[in-house]
Amino acid sequence: MKIAIGCDHGGFQLKEEIVVLLQNMGHEVVNLGTNSLDSVNYPDFAEAVCKAITDGGCERGILICGTGIGMSMAANRHREIRAALCHELFTARMSREHNDANVLCLGARVVGPGLALEIVSTWVNTAFGGGRHLSRIEMFS
Ligand code: RB5
Repeated sequence: MKIAIGCDHGGFQLKEEIVVLLQNMGHEVVNLGTNSLDSVNYPDFAEAVCKAITDGGCERGILICGTGIGMSMAANRHREIRAALCHELFTARMSREHNDANVLCLGARVVGPGLALEIVSTWVNTAFGGGRHLSRIEMFS
């Protein structure tokens, strides 16, 4: 799967770990930065990842900031984007099964790297359930 990833300074270190995880899982990763701890504005990276999905051939995206909140707010301004902010495994799985989330948002200051990597694996590996859930997401897409 082709997966775009972006973060701000708050998410930089976790983003680096997630890139390695996704590559080890065999995915193609489009790393849209940021690539240092220097302070940046999270909406720029949300925009880049959303565009990589809507116009750039990426199937999914992952966005990381300090809390994940700003990234999820910015990403969900896009009609075609269904961004889910998940900090445990149940919502990570359900965001795929029921909501066909195409962007996962994480807060690097909320969850430790061990749980974050499990959330990413679960989210990437879970399929959309379709059926009644499809008509529901079509109601706001
Ligand atoms: C940056 O300090 C912080 O505001 C950002 O990473 C994020 O948590 C915003 O939602």
